[in-house]
Amino acid sequence: MLTSKRQDLEGVAHPLKANDLHLSYVKGDEVLTGVDLVLHTGELILVRGVSGSGKTTLLNVLSGLLSPSRGTVCINGVDITKVSESQRDAIRLHEMGMVFQHHGLVPDFTARENIELVLRAREIKNSAAIAMGALEEVGVAELADRRPAEMSGGQAQRVGIARAIAGGHRIVLADEPTGQLDRANTDMIFKVLRHIVTDGADRAVLLSSHDPRACDYVDRVLDMEDGVLEEV
Ligand SMILES: Nc1ncnc2c1ncn2[C@@H]1O[C@H](COP(=O)(O)OP(=O)(O)OP(=O)(O)O)[C@@H](O)[C@H]1O
Ligand SMILES: [Mg+2]
Repeated sequence: MLTSKRQDLEGVAHPLKANDLHLSYVKGDEVLTGVDLVLHTGELILVRGVSGSGKTTLLNVLSGLLSPSRGTVCINGVDITKVSESQRDAIRLHEMGMVFQHHGLVPDFTARENIELVLRAREIKNSAAIAMGALEEVGVAELADRRPAEMSGGQAQRVGIARAIAGGHRIVLADEPTGQLDRANTDMIFKVLRHIVTDGADRAVLLSSHDPRACDYVDRVLDMEDGVLEEV
């Protein structure tokens, strides 16, 4: 594990802070049973856990895609469980870059268009050049004009990562971003995620992964067990 360079100053909100999160899909069967979590500025943290332990569920609650039955999720000090759905969507758009476990690309759009879509929604200029830069960073620039159905699973996954990192969001949530990648590409993606928190731009990354090598790139490891997170 690497040394954390926590930079939050007193009085400045953490990028992400969650308290006592509970969630059930089926009544009486909680997947999250009281999750507490703080993501500090400048750190990359890893959430581990067996398949079905609730990692994707947790990331979806942290991004506001799922509402917890109890608990709070503060993004830059704003509790997204207390705001309207449109405010929650706006916070997600502007504050979080998200890598989905199953790429989540729009099927009718090319790789470049998928990235530009998000940048334009935020009125970011030079979206075409930024999108190409992000595709280059994860080694798939040659796929810029292909749609997801014309890519391998691992290529689509890398385009999904490019989309999440292109916008320079303060928070990046990455759910199993290397699940479909070979060893060399896995190491490359972990380095890209590490660079996000070391490039001096005050960003933070939460990564979920099964890959034991992820530990070499992160500041802290949290294990998801019985619906709660335990720091390792
Ligand atoms: N929409 C849903 N409806 C009902 N149960 C669900 C739903 N989504 C997930 N679950 C259940 O919630 C639990 C946690 O699922 P989740 O996808 O969060 O696990 P995970 O840790 O991400 O697993 P994996 O490592 O396989 O991706 C599992 O038991 C799963 O079957
Ligand atoms: Mg999952």
